[in-house]
Amino acid sequence: MLDVENVTKRFGGIIALNKVSFTVESGEFIGLIGPNGSGKTTLVNVVTGVYKPEEGRIAFQGSDITGKPSHSICRLGISRTFQIPQPIEDMTVYENVALSNRFCGDGKDETVWEALKLCGLEDKAYIEAGKLILVEKRLLELARAIATRPRLLFLDEVAAGLRPGEIRHLASVLRDLNSRGISIVWIEHNVVELVKYVRRVVVMHFGRVIADGDPSRVLRLPEVVESYLGRLAV
Ligand SMILES: Nc1ncnc2c1ncn2[C@@H]1O[C@H](COP(=O)(O)OP(=O)(O)OP(=O)(O)O)[C@@H](O)[C@H]1O
Ligand SMILES: [Mg+2]
Repeated sequence: MLDVENVTKRFGGIIALNKVSFTVESGEFIGLIGPNGSGKTTLVNVVTGVYKPEEGRIAFQGSDITGKPSHSICRLGISRTFQIPQPIEDMTVYENVALSNRFCGDGKDETVWEALKLCGLEDKAYIEAGKLILVEKRLLELARAIATRPRLLFLDEVAAGLRPGEIRHLASVLRDLNSRGISIVWIEHNVVELVKYVRRVVVMHFGRVIADGDPSRVLRLPEVVESYLGRLAV
């Protein structure tokens, strides 16, 4: 479905992505982990057209999307949430979701309500986004992404700062989306929670993919344990 091949992205002297190759098959639920600054968000940014890579090629469902603008990539079926949710605070929850649906979705009101329902936000539809608590803001961010009708969804630390019960709720929403056929790449520092849900883990370190595969195998690799030393207890 997605094929990232030898992608390099530099910021001045920093090599944020160093010949990264990474694939997503249709229907997958993948965890993307790695220490701060290892290139996770940058990977999402080059796939979704925020940045153009200096080298490499990105293909989605057979077509080359390297360097295409974000809205075109979104309309082809890749959506993402941002590490820091930025809803339009003085618009309602409904209006925020409708806006993303009008911009990159099918323009149908039923799609907006479906996205709200899938995220458990239908009761909050007419509340101003600025009044939501953190978990609701994260669910709104997710609803906005879903309202564009993606086939592939990148979630950038969508559960960061949430309580265990809130993470479980969010993860059950993600499982539901995945069972409906949306492929998911979930960036998450809480690896212990993450591995309860994902079937594959990709590990980044200093702009490279250092491991990729079955969570129980990958998380035992010495180079993975070392790159997460002090924060991972598996
Ligand atoms: N717009 C930018 N300008 C300059 N440097 C950047 C920019 N975006 C990212 N970087 C640098 O690229 C590297 C990778 O950053 P990135 O945000 O992708 O890491 P990350 O894995 O998402 O980290 P975190 O877990 O903290 O979110 C870091 O050294 C970062 O400082
Ligand atoms: Mg990041």
